[in-house]
Amino acid sequence: MLERFTFPDLDSAYESFLKHSGLEECVILQTCNRVELFGCTNSADLGKIKKTWASVAGLEENAFKENLEISKGTDAYTHLLKLTSGLDSLVIGEEQILSQVKESISTAKGLKASGDNLNTLFDKAIKIGTRVRQATGISKGSLSIGSMAVNLAEENIDDLKSKHILLIGTGEAASLVAKSLKKREIDFLVTSRTFERSKAFAETAGGTPMPFEQATANFKSIDVLFVATIAPYFLVTHDRVQEAMQSRKDGMLIMDLSNPRTVDDKVSTIDKIKVMNLDQIAEMVEKNMKNRMGLVSSAEHIINEELPVVEAAMKRLEVEPIVTNVFKEIDQARVKELKKALQMLGEKDEQKIRIIDQLTQAIVEDIMSIPMNNLRKASEQGDAEILKTVKRLFDYKTKE
Ligand SMILES: NC(=O)c1ccc[n+]([C@@H]2O[C@H](COP(=O)([O-])OP(=O)(O)OC[C@H]3O[C@@H](n4cnc5c(N)ncnc54)[C@H](OP(=O)(O)O)[C@@H]3O)[C@@H](O)[C@H]2O)c1
Repeated sequence: MLERFTFPDLDSAYESFLKHSGLEECVILQTCNRVELFGCTNSADLGKIKKTWASVAGLEENAFKENLEISKGTDAYTHLLKLTSGLDSLVIGEEQILSQVKESISTAKGLKASGDNLNTLFDKAIKIGTRVRQATGISKGSLSIGSMAVNLAEENIDDLKSKHILLIGTGEAASLVAKSLKKREIDFLVTSRTFERSKAFAETAGGTPMPFEQATANFKSIDVLFVATIAPYFLVTHDRVQEAMQSRKDGMLIMDLSNPRTVDDKVSTIDKIKVMNLDQIAEMVEKNMKNRMGLVSSAEHIINEELPVVEAAMKRLEVEPIVTNVFKEIDQARVKELKKALQMLGEKDEQKIRIIDQLTQAIVEDIMSIPMNNLRKASEQGDAEILKTVKRLFDYKTKE
């Protein structure tokens, strides 16, 4: 399902959202667990956003019916803070999401899709996420998806170390499995479509490389199979596993970390075959999470403390263009009147001109700084009325 909502080409997705969705700024975050769109606009039109999403991802519009969650304002800020702190991850406290958020905002910045609002929000969220992790240590004890899978294999098979293990995949998820096997000094074979890639993986992550066709066509000597690829079809089919089982007495444990799955569901109907996938890993994650509930509540405590700071910073952004504009207009009037006065005086003395110039600047700043600072404060406190009044008083027009 998640796959259907994914944007196959980020550049063109950004281009379409900026052109057609009515969003003034946007950031896309897509990982193997989520596809999220962060947007900023004065007048959100959900219909337009969904239409753009559907056309970029090649979806029919009713696909959104039960699969879309929408958060606005403070709820959206809270969500992003939980993301960067690792509280919304399958494995609580995992580090990867923080890098993925950093990567998303840097891509959006590069494409000029994000502006002052989302840049400020993401910048704050990344800092707070880092602070939460440092202050609570939530990332330290967190088990990776790979070690969860290996733990689960250990729970389901006797003496894992003595078994023949094959790892299909050489990407990020596979390297987490490899890291965990290596840490326990467990030998394994590793395969990927290109043998060169398997060899390079084995050199850095461990394992013995094996050619892909040889490995996938011959499961009969394998006791435990870890699969972590993004293959868009079943790599482990019913026929291949059944054939392998004909010449062996023992069962086989298959751990599919892939999402979407790359082990055919029918494989689990074969006698002595046990297939486990991300759902079972998620159950284990829940157990792990219960033990870490104390850390989660400390992390939430920091997030709740930081939330008003984020809200204030975001609200300040609403008022800043008005403040800048008011100062700019007043300064233009000051410069115009100053020129007139200097002409009337026929003043040529540079030092005197500088003094008069500084005098007019000081008067403007003295008069304007108190009301403008009060405006900033009122805006931080969410006083929308005062913003409207100031806009009317100074004849300030926004793109509504
Ligand atoms: N990364 C994580 O933390 C994480 C967590 C949970 C679940 N997962 C799931 O694990 C799977 C792999 O994710 P990843 O992050 O490791 O991806 P990745 O880093 O992009 O690696 C993808 C792997 O899939 C292989 N591959 C791609 N197309 C293939 C095909 N047609 N046939 C066979 N192999 C193919 C690639 O190797 P070759 O191109 O050399 O064949 C590579 O080993 C995904 O389904 C993901 O949803 C990942």
